[in-house]
Amino acid sequence: MEHIKLNNFPTNFLWGAATAAYQVEGAIHEEGKGVSVQDSRNFSNAFHDTTVTSDHFHRFHEDVGLMKELGLKSYRFSVAWTRIYPDGVNINPPGIAFYNRLIDELIRNGIEPLITLYHFDHPQALQECFGGWYGDEMIEHFLRFAATCFKAFGDRVNWFMTLCESNNVVLYPDLIGGVPAGVEVEAWRFQVSRVMALANARVIRLGRELLPNAKIGPCIGYAVAYPATCAPLDIMAALNEDEFRTFYPLDLLCLGRQNTAVVTFFAQRGLDIRLRQSELDELTSVKPDFIAFNYYQSDVAKACPLNDKGIQPGFNRDGKKGGFTYPRFPGLYAGDSNPYLERNDWDWEIDPVGLRIACRRLFDRYQLPLIITENGLGACDTLIDGQVNDIYRIDYLQKHIYQMQLAITDGVPVLGYYPWSFIDLMSTSNGYKKRYGFVYVDRDDNAVKTLNRYKKDSFHWYQNVISSNGRNLNNKQGYSK
Ligand code: BG6
Repeated sequence: MEHIKLNNFPTNFLWGAATAAYQVEGAIHEEGKGVSVQDSRNFSNAFHDTTVTSDHFHRFHEDVGLMKELGLKSYRFSVAWTRIYPDGVNINPPGIAFYNRLIDELIRNGIEPLITLYHFDHPQALQECFGGWYGDEMIEHFLRFAATCFKAFGDRVNWFMTLCESNNVVLYPDLIGGVPAGVEVEAWRFQVSRVMALANARVIRLGRELLPNAKIGPCIGYAVAYPATCAPLDIMAALNEDEFRTFYPLDLLCLGRQNTAVVTFFAQRGLDIRLRQSELDELTSVKPDFIAFNYYQSDVAKACPLNDKGIQPGFNRDGKKGGFTYPRFPGLYAGDSNPYLERNDWDWEIDPVGLRIACRRLFDRYQLPLIITENGLGACDTLIDGQVNDIYRIDYLQKHIYQMQLAITDGVPVLGYYPWSFIDLMSTSNGYKKRYGFVYVDRDDNAVKTLNRYKKDSFHWYQNVISSNGRNLNNKQGYSK
């Protein structure tokens, strides 16, 4: 669909940027913070851990100053569960005090906070007690934590996201504490989806009671699935991927229903994933205010016969293009590369048009406003004489924002855009080698260095985009080499 003219961005559009606690804060042993599954997972990393990361905990005044200079209307950050409930049970007031200081500083600088309640970092203690999200007990714990956040921060915070990418974390069990011994991975996936959906619904219901004016919604990661060819079996494979990875979990979160094809597929393999009617009723009774979604890339799906060998999803760990092994789910779909797209060094395909497709598909199916809560380019940046020329990131963001504007012109209500990330942080899969920020942090995987901050070229470019409310989007002059 080509438009004769584009709509402007709404005047109250949330031009933002995002981070997550375990990737940016550091200070994991300070002011009573407990050990999270992210702290545990990264202790054994060869190249980095969560101890210092970008030291935002100590430098948040400076960082908020940079946000103001950038012109951010909104900042998305996550609350580390283990600062508030170090062991999941006992409250830690200094943790609340830290986020109060951060929120106050944001508000003093005219920046609207958007809080992610859960970004992959639940207390290790809860993981050890009942397997974290595998246990139904997690719902009560998450509710208690969310209630504390609503009560402590809700007088100043209007936007809350419940669970970050609840659909993607089930694909990568090791990311959130792993599958308990003796449990089959698919059984784990569906149990975690169920527990997260119920937790999401109860937290939204609680939020409605405590903060009637707040906007609360779930968040997913959406890599739109394209068929590898127009062969009908590839079309079916792409549909399978969309339904299995995105629509099954999102239908639960937004519509309170289970995708029939997915239920049947697993029933034939002896796995009954049906929820009780009372649970479905509970899910149906809660409607989120928006869908937040994170978009980095699209996927390609091709047919994967039943007798094929399965391969679980993974990551390209060494940053050498072509090193990625595509997943294979026999009877559903197999991943593949897209010959029409460029990709970054970790084989994440760069597909701005996919963002518009994602907006259209999500809005058409759920009829809820959308917020793009992550989008960005991971790259190896170099600091030369205090400068980072990241024209490749400007190019990526400009093309994606343009497609978002097309989606808005298509009629999709997009409320905000939060590039990943505001500042360089520890990438979940690739440490500091892979950077995303508008602000460079002087450290790497081997040494913490000065941790000084440097504005990249993309900082200045995005500043101009925000101050012109998107009108200067195409102005890349002065940034190319
Ligand atoms: C998102 C996560 O899925 O992807 C972020 O919410 C993460 O935490 C981002 O950093 C990019 O992934 P990675 O592995 O490159 O850091």
